[in-house]
Amino acid sequence: MTTMTVIGCGYLGAVHAACMATLGHDVLGIDVDAGKVDQLNRGVPPFFEPGFPELLAEALESGRLRFTSDMSQATGRRVHFVCVGTPQKRNEYAADLAYVDSAVNALAPHLSPDALVVGKSTVPVGTAARLADVVTEAQPGAMLAWNPEFLREGFAVQDTLRPDRIVYGLPDGVPGDAAKALLDEVYGNALTAGTPLVVTDYATAELVKAAANSFLATKISFINAMAEVCEASGADVTKLADAIGYDPRIGRRFLNAGLGFGGGCLPKDIRAFMARAGELGADQALAFLREIDSINMRRRVRMVDLAREFFGGSIVGRRVAVLGLAFKPNSDDIRDSPALNVAAQMKLQGASVVVTDPQAVANAHKAWPDLEYADTAQTAAKDADLVMVLTEWDEYRKLDPVEFGTIVAGRRVLDGRNALNREVWRAAGWNYRALGRQ
Ligand code: UDX
Repeated sequence: MTTMTVIGCGYLGAVHAACMATLGHDVLGIDVDAGKVDQLNRGVPPFFEPGFPELLAEALESGRLRFTSDMSQATGRRVHFVCVGTPQKRNEYAADLAYVDSAVNALAPHLSPDALVVGKSTVPVGTAARLADVVTEAQPGAMLAWNPEFLREGFAVQDTLRPDRIVYGLPDGVPGDAAKALLDEVYGNALTAGTPLVVTDYATAELVKAAANSFLATKISFINAMAEVCEASGADVTKLADAIGYDPRIGRRFLNAGLGFGGGCLPKDIRAFMARAGELGADQALAFLREIDSINMRRRVRMVDLAREFFGGSIVGRRVAVLGLAFKPNSDDIRDSPALNVAAQMKLQGASVVVTDPQAVANAHKAWPDLEYADTAQTAAKDADLVMVLTEWDEYRKLDPVEFGTIVAGRRVLDGRNALNREVWRAAGWNYRALGRQ
């Protein structure tokens, strides 16, 4: 059992804290947001994540997990995970490190001589080395490791307890050995389950995360670029993805064409990576990521164009039901959500838009209060001229197009995620259109 803190209790930190308590550690979650701390202490998750409510309840019940806003309570604890956000700076590509810096600066005076600070936030390469100096200046015996996190929202619990791999970015020599021993102790159970471990220097560990997210973004934009060519040539991108995906060197995962990537990670991470490469004089190496970003953003525009094409050029006054607001299913996260972006564009261009989502309505409402909100797909679709499926929630995949067709004013459906069974919807009399398919 190791005593630890987890600083920053958002999607990453709160799940990490509860998972660490489940592994048997004594965990203190620290967050500057007193409201969030209070909710977490009462076992109320501040966000939607499958499996998290149960995990949180169990961890609180065990007595090994609690939350506070008081950084001084970090005193005497051995390991400190830094899980705060690194959002994109306003009007710049670069990552804003204000939260990381303030977390480490606030923690520094409370470090004990044998403490280990473990960075998990996604940061520009070079940050860990800089923070290591802050740590050792405050407490000469203390160490810093960089241990990037690869969890996906919607699978956060599973990804934390059974990760694909674990990466340790460590300092050289004896401190590195000591940090490794302590991290092995912390991850004991996960490691003995046979998880691959990559031990490296700080810079490589930081870059692993940036490279992994860039690759995933590239894969999605590649298939979306193919979707554009399919649209121009009358081909079918879903069949194309299946066929190329059978090649194990390519693989079918992350080849789903549609509205593209969003969320709190991929879009801002590829931009921050470009910004950092520019600072390092390596901007040419990542010039392609600008294209990846453009392909991705073009899909959102194309979706609105498709809607316009349905009505001979104008969506003004048309009643449009938008199903899905979260950036992906099984999440209530609307950060850079392609779905919400398209809904807002439709509204700005004069459509009468009613939106719904199984989990993200509250968050979306805060960001876009002037959209019309409905509780269910059925209410949203009432008298609609067009239905747009923009997040591929299971419950939308399972809609019965015959029954659903009786609610709407016109059987027009735009499938932004290639999630519906085209043949079944067409057989039910729907005029079906999708990105990358005829
Ligand atoms: C991502 C990375 O997967 C994760 O490893 C990292 O730690 C954080 O960023 P996440 O943002 O939770 O995780 O979502 P992910 O499942 O990667 O999806 C990102 C976006 O890509 C979503 O908007 C999703 O809809 C989209 N996507 C994904 C596609 O458009 N097509 C696909 O084939 C896959």
